[in-house]
Amino acid sequence: MAFAYRDGALCAEQVPLEDIARRFGTPCYVYSRAAIEGAYREFTDELAGRASLVCYSVKANSNLAVLSVLARLGAGFDIVSGGELARVIAAGGNPAKIVFSGVGKTEEEIRGALQAGILSINLESEQELERVNAVAGALGKRAPVAFRVNPDVDAKTHPYISTGLKQNKFGVAWSDAERLYRKAAALPHVRIAGVGCHIGSLMLDSAPFVAATTRIVDLVERLGQAGIGLEHIDLGGGMGIRYHDETAAPVAAFVHGALDALGRRRETVLLDPGRAIVGNAGVLLTRVEYVKPGEAKNFVVVDAAMNDLIRPALYGAWHDVKNLREAESGAAAGVYDIVGPVCESADWLAKDRTLAVRQGDVLAILSAGAYAMAMSSNYNTRPRAAEVMVSGADAQLVRRRESVAQLFEGELVPAWK
Ligand code: LLP
Repeated sequence: MAFAYRDGALCAEQVPLEDIARRFGTPCYVYSRAAIEGAYREFTDELAGRASLVCYSVKANSNLAVLSVLARLGAGFDIVSGGELARVIAAGGNPAKIVFSGVGKTEEEIRGALQAGILSINLESEQELERVNAVAGALGKRAPVAFRVNPDVDAKTHPYISTGLKQNKFGVAWSDAERLYRKAAALPHVRIAGVGCHIGSLMLDSAPFVAATTRIVDLVERLGQAGIGLEHIDLGGGMGIRYHDETAAPVAAFVHGALDALGRRRETVLLDPGRAIVGNAGVLLTRVEYVKPGEAKNFVVVDAAMNDLIRPALYGAWHDVKNLREAESGAAAGVYDIVGPVCESADWLAKDRTLAVRQGDVLAILSAGAYAMAMSSNYNTRPRAAEVMVSGADAQLVRRRESVAQLFEGELVPAWK
């Protein structure tokens, strides 16, 4: 366990989180290098013996230190913007292991990806195919492409993070895929590299993932009959983790379910997990500013807010909350909503939690490694949190806390009379 109590103090690996809060202040994200490495290796171990590549989905947590840990293990990366491409390269990632998805790639982003020499552009529309062909032609290149196919399979997750249904904006329609592949095969500046698919995030059950794989295999076989061969099959990410008391199917169930569905196919298998690699490898530390009893509810007002962690406000997500010194806090347990200072009633991090807590205590919001700092904002002119990575007994700052001056340094006041 990367985050566990030792002698009554919650630790990240061997470092008491209290020390980190004292050294770097709060709010502060803390990541465990061992937890990231362990979660990545779970995928590569399950895929052992199979031509495969695990492309970490950068959007889940794009801190350079996180990317660098994974790059050193030989990971590939799944990106969704030119900005993420720049991050991966800055962190030492291998461009030849990058896949680029997303419905709105600009010409500039496509040019940058081709110049960097990425593994595959995952096309999400016919117009994008035409644009990639034109941009590659102008560069005198052939673009390696895959179509992200929307298999119309229900991932059975929160509607905001479901992506594989007909009514979602993602991918090309299942019924149109074969026509688009034939069209791509006839274009001079693209090279068909593979097929992609991603049906949604936070899947607790592997069955929808396996069902999507089966549909993709069906398409790959039809393409083969049409003389269109592929090098890789990218099955996306979406493997769930445990936030509360739910049971998430293990990585092995997703991997082996997919491998069984692939049967005798020999294309390289790509997976792009994000949350499953970093979700439980991070916590958010936040200090209690006030304990505020109320008529209908009791509140613990902390120094982190929805701008730091928006998942509760956006999805009603549950994150566990622990006092770093639970046993010795000296306060009697009460039932509290944990809320931030932002001026929105949606600004809550947890509801109806039984906690022993006093003013000045530091709390850890758990499972905050994925889609947490990455989705943070400066709402209410709040500087974003610091980030720290722990490896064994060493804690290193991996992102400085923003300053207020930084927040408006790009703003200009016109000199109108
Ligand atoms: N591949 C593609 C094409 C994706 O769009 C995504 C996530 C992933 C892979 C990685 O999915 P994961 O393995 O992390 O589930 N903000 C939401 C999650 C949004 C996911 C977007 N796409 C949340 O906080 O739950």
